[in-house]
Amino acid sequence: MNKPFLADRIDGKGFAADLVEKLTVDVADIKSRTGLTPGLAVVLVGEDPASGVYVGAKHRQTLAIGMESFVYRLPAETTQNELMALLEKLNAASEVNGILVQLPLPAHLNTNAVINVIDPDKDVDGFHILNAGRLATGQDALVPCTPLGCLMMLKDRLGNLAGLNAVVVGKSNIVGKPMAQLLMGENCTVTVAHSKTQDVPALCRTADILVVAVGRPEMVKGDWIKPGAVVIDVGINRIDRDGRSRIVGDVAFEEAGHASAITPVPGGVGPMTIACLLANTVTAFKRQHHIVTHQAVVAV
Ligand code: GUN
Repeated sequence: MNKPFLADRIDGKGFAADLVEKLTVDVADIKSRTGLTPGLAVVLVGEDPASGVYVGAKHRQTLAIGMESFVYRLPAETTQNELMALLEKLNAASEVNGILVQLPLPAHLNTNAVINVIDPDKDVDGFHILNAGRLATGQDALVPCTPLGCLMMLKDRLGNLAGLNAVVVGKSNIVGKPMAQLLMGENCTVTVAHSKTQDVPALCRTADILVVAVGRPEMVKGDWIKPGAVVIDVGINRIDRDGRSRIVGDVAFEEAGHASAITPVPGGVGPMTIACLLANTVTAFKRQHHIVTHQAVVAV
């Protein structure tokens, strides 16, 4: 007999909608107080279809909350110098408060050099080496959007995270590493697992908080999850099953009913990522204009 599914579904979609509503109010307030409109520039190089969809969604949602959106779609043959020159121009443009270069870049481009030419105070992806260092040392950073969204949902669910055992599966610069830093900042005991880690299932079973970001469909099985754990599934994987195409996460969701809560895929982490990008753009604008708000929309 199937075990009952007792875990709460963490409603990332609803959480993101609430955040977007608060940001809309914040942007209107900024406009009336300063006469300025916060602006986000997004740069896409090449024709990767998934990246094209993400950039379109960022553009629409940026406009929807009342900000300015500048989208640059460049050909796949764009040279390093051409891309760097555009970024220098955006660094100097006062109407651009946030800059994002959609990854991955075509193979002939040097990703680190591209990221590090962005003004760190406009680096709304939080990928610049200075923001990574600020995050690691507990200083005001622009924080990568996906882990920021994950942390907001964890704090909403659990309150104080201090002393909890957190396991992060995946050590990418975009999710795993900054996620581990954020959880350390909350005084969790953090372990990062990756492809060379011995006995990942046993390690996962120690986790009160389990964050999985590896891009492998349903890799984490039910018996890897400690009863009562909170599970954050960052994966978005398209698979064909029973002749149908569907989206699944990195966690075998149906087997996770003994967790206390889990993010579904879709509808969990995904919607939070763009909401946090918008939040980072508002944060960047405020820092550039020395606007102090008492009620931080994103509290980290
Ligand atoms: N590609 C996949 N995730 C991301 C992200 O968070 N930011 C950027 N710029 N590119 C991505």
